Amino acid sequence: MEFKSFKIGKYTIEKPIVQGGMGVGISWDQLAGNVSLEGGLGVISAVGTGVYKHRKYLDGKEMVGKEHRPLEAINFYSYPALKKIFENAREICGDRPLACNVLYAQSEYDRVVQDACKAGADIIITGAGLPLTMPEAAKDYPDVALVPIVSTAKALRILCRRWKKTHNRLPDAVIVEGPLSGGHQGFKYEDCFLPENQLEEILPPVVEEAKNWGSMPVIAAGGVWDHDDIVRMMELGADAVQMGTRFIGTVECDANDVFKQVILDSTEDTIKLFKSPVGYPARGVKTNLHKSIEEGTAPKVACISNCVAPCHRGEEAKVVGYCIADRLTDAYDGLIDTGLFFTGAHGYRLNEIITVKELMDKLMNGEDT
Ligand SMILES: Cc1cc2nc3c(=O)[nH]c(=O)nc-3n(C[C@H](O)[C@H](O)[C@H](O)COP(=O)(O)O)c2cc1C
Repeated sequence: MEFKSFKIGKYTIEKPIVQGGMGVGISWDQLAGNVSLEGGLGVISAVGTGVYKHRKYLDGKEMVGKEHRPLEAINFYSYPALKKIFENAREICGDRPLACNVLYAQSEYDRVVQDACKAGADIIITGAGLPLTMPEAAKDYPDVALVPIVSTAKALRILCRRWKKTHNRLPDAVIVEGPLSGGHQGFKYEDCFLPENQLEEILPPVVEEAKNWGSMPVIAAGGVWDHDDIVRMMELGADAVQMGTRFIGTVECDANDVFKQVILDSTEDTIKLFKSPVGYPARGVKTNLHKSIEEGTAPKVACISNCVAPCHRGEEAKVVGYCIADRLTDAYDGLIDTGLFFTGAHGYRLNEIITVKELMDKLMNGEDT
């Protein structure tokens, strides 16, 4: 099968591969810039930009709170840092399409969508909740394409009806994500294992629903690993795929080498779904952190950044035993004992670190060509 380019709004993506946004520092300027340069869609994560390594140099003042954490959402989702990340990525990919991932569950969602538009995002991608107010948040930027992430055809139907009614707009594309994906899931814990919720089952109804609303491209995500998987998704009606975990195995991925090694060392048995203060289960690698949570010796929860609304300033974090902002930041900093390392269910299959160009070639043409 020959892979074709596809369009999101007015933007043409040469290769049907979207690199999934990966929060706190896994997909920033280097990864996203290089994926877009190679003809895929690079996605910069807006999550935790306040811990961007060069934060101190952005506007001459420290934007960090207690324990060197960004104080309050305004600094955790830092506009100066996001702007700098976009500038650096643009130096790599020029004016090729470049997207930004903003979580619906995060604090100050509307402000961060506007920040991303100002910073130069062509496309905004939002998951972690049903983004009913996404068109309102982006209303001053009509050229910016909007892409929600859903897990069911029903969710897409509800979104389209609402967007049409309130803003006479429809999604420019839709991502359907199944429960093998990395990080937070769109399903409850038990529902992640149900056969009817697997990507192969939820994709065709979303493709059918999308047809009711014109020519909206459908992007399949969650557990897509190689060329043959992409072919399978396209045979089921997808126009493109979104992949996260496989891009962690690239030289350009912004994750620390320790982070990449944790994924390389993982096995099928160490990749699990964990409780998260965001309210959805999240997939990652079981490490010492989980042992210390069980034993009550994990780092104390003290909310500094007010990162996600459902956590209620650390209340949920206390229930699940850890602060998600702190633990993901530790993973970004390569702190093996206290970091939380997200991966998709197929992370154990990662066995090499190659360049984005090499990976894109393998995905387009098959591993052995
Ligand atoms: C380390 C990591 C961090 C992630 N962070 C986010 C995020 O901040 N926002 C989001 O919408 N998805 C996030 N995801 C999901 C990815 O964007 C992508 O959709 C998913 O990983 C696809 O499944 P795959 O990893 O099996 O390819 C994350 C995934 C990983 C592995």
